[in-house]
Amino acid sequence: MKDWFDVAKKIESRVLLAAESAGLDLAVFDADVRPADPRFGDVQANGALPYAKRHKTNPRQLAQSILAKLEEDDEVKGVATLSIAGPGFINFTLKPTFILEWVKTFSGETALRESAGQLKANRKVVVDFGSPNTAKQMHVGHIRSIVIGETICRLLEFCGAKVVRDNHIGDWGTPYGKLFYAYKRELDQEALENDPLEELERLYKLGSSLANEDESVLEESRQELVALQNGDSQSMALWERVNDLSIQGLKTIYEVLDVTYDCYLGESFYRDKVEQVYNELCESGIAEESKGALVVFHPEHKRYSKQPFIIRKSDGASNYATTDLATMLYRKEHFEATDVIIVTDARQKDHFEQLDLTCQKWFQASKRDLPDFSHVMFGSINGEDGKPIKSRSGDPIRLRELLNESIERAYVIVKEKFEERNAAIDEEELMHIASVVGVSAIKYADLSQNRTSDYQFSWNKLLAFDGNTAPYLLYAATRVQSIFRKLEAGDQNDLESKASPYETAEELALAKKVIGFVGTLHTTVDTLKPHFLCTYLYELAGTFSAFYAANTVIVDDEGQKARRILLCKRTLEILKTGLSLLGIPTLERM
Ligand code: ARG
Repeated sequence: MKDWFDVAKKIESRVLLAAESAGLDLAVFDADVRPADPRFGDVQANGALPYAKRHKTNPRQLAQSILAKLEEDDEVKGVATLSIAGPGFINFTLKPTFILEWVKTFSGETALRESAGQLKANRKVVVDFGSPNTAKQMHVGHIRSIVIGETICRLLEFCGAKVVRDNHIGDWGTPYGKLFYAYKRELDQEALENDPLEELERLYKLGSSLANEDESVLEESRQELVALQNGDSQSMALWERVNDLSIQGLKTIYEVLDVTYDCYLGESFYRDKVEQVYNELCESGIAEESKGALVVFHPEHKRYSKQPFIIRKSDGASNYATTDLATMLYRKEHFEATDVIIVTDARQKDHFEQLDLTCQKWFQASKRDLPDFSHVMFGSINGEDGKPIKSRSGDPIRLRELLNESIERAYVIVKEKFEERNAAIDEEELMHIASVVGVSAIKYADLSQNRTSDYQFSWNKLLAFDGNTAPYLLYAATRVQSIFRKLEAGDQNDLESKASPYETAEELALAKKVIGFVGTLHTTVDTLKPHFLCTYLYELAGTFSAFYAANTVIVDDEGQKARRILLCKRTLEILKTGLSLLGIPTLERM
């Protein structure tokens, strides 16, 4: 028995048996097992109510008759005590002996992985995240896709899936004409070497303002673009150079964020794969010509029956939709993906809905299995005034600057904490702690919000040492760790056999929280919403604090000491595992 779902399944089967022997008709009875209101129990079976309503009998009496049968069941007796709440909910309060057994099974990360690993076994998931347009600095808006995407990858891997991290960079298209124009005339070689993205962005901006002012520059930029699109060898060489430099620049930030991609198959990769898309979609009648363009309508859909999905522009050029169609096919055929996840902001919702509808028809017509597709979308990051955050100059804040500022701010705070405690720390360790805290705080602030809503960015909130923040959780983990430093040799031996069943309210609350970890992973992976895991970890840390404040760990009674040390161990393991799924490493002290 490894997690909540196993228990729920077991309880469900016993409730069905009891209901049958109490004379209920199983064809219409649904046990309806779910987590209980903690004031009344741990697990609840609510099926008596709708059944009684349908059969016009008294629900409480009906629940009572099921409960009577359950109480005769040895399987149930070993697990829980029973009661009835409200109009007829059957409540199961798990027995301390059972809880202890359960806590024992979580014997470390491997056991957790094994338990969670059934969830996504045999899945191969291509996760397309980050995916910025090249030759530009990343700004604050890019962080969400990177951080949410990476966490989703880690969660899926933990739950048994094979994951391909694909950075679908925007590395093809119109900006290159203007960029090349300026690159050939105004390049600052040294600047390019120091910070490639900064210099490329400067050149692109320069090219486009020159083209705005001067018709002849615009014309030359167009020629550059045409040469590139025709595969002119010099243009291709320059494009490759720009692309390599861009990826090199992006990687410096991915390194700070601890993200590594398996591939960078950007838009350019699909440019020779679009003919097949046009041909197949035309042959199957899914696409049609409209005003010179090739488009797909979805007559069954309210909006997309009129709003076209343009897959080839009237000038014959491919676009974002074309490459995304080709990309879906490639992910299916080359990677044999069972699932495709694309992480972008919510403004691309229509695009991906239309892509999904089109792919469903296309794959069906061509007798291919369509991977399960999810568009994981997120809202924008706003400042405290509720508007998207900008730097003082009015430009979006660069991601690199944001991370640096967070590390600098964390440095000041952490240093102060050490000074307050009069604890010695050398500069190197301080820098290490500051960079873990600074980067983690930014990641966590993002992950802990329901991703579909906009979120409000606040330095004070995200770096606070209390509240639902990374510093709080990191600190909680160091506190648990410090307990182990106080233990004597031998204290950690044979914990499983020495431990006595949990008794105090705080022990039971913490043990039940520990048990809830795998269930939380299920919810998080099912919804692809990392905030469920964050909320859980925050609650775990709070439950641990309450336990630690009320229950002394190092006591004389061997059984009591062992069961409490066991809880500290489990809490630490789960905090570490949970945080690492969020891309956050734990610290020895802070
Ligand atoms: N480059 C795009 C952007 O910056 C995101 C790409 C997402 N992935 C995709 N397959 N469309 O908005």
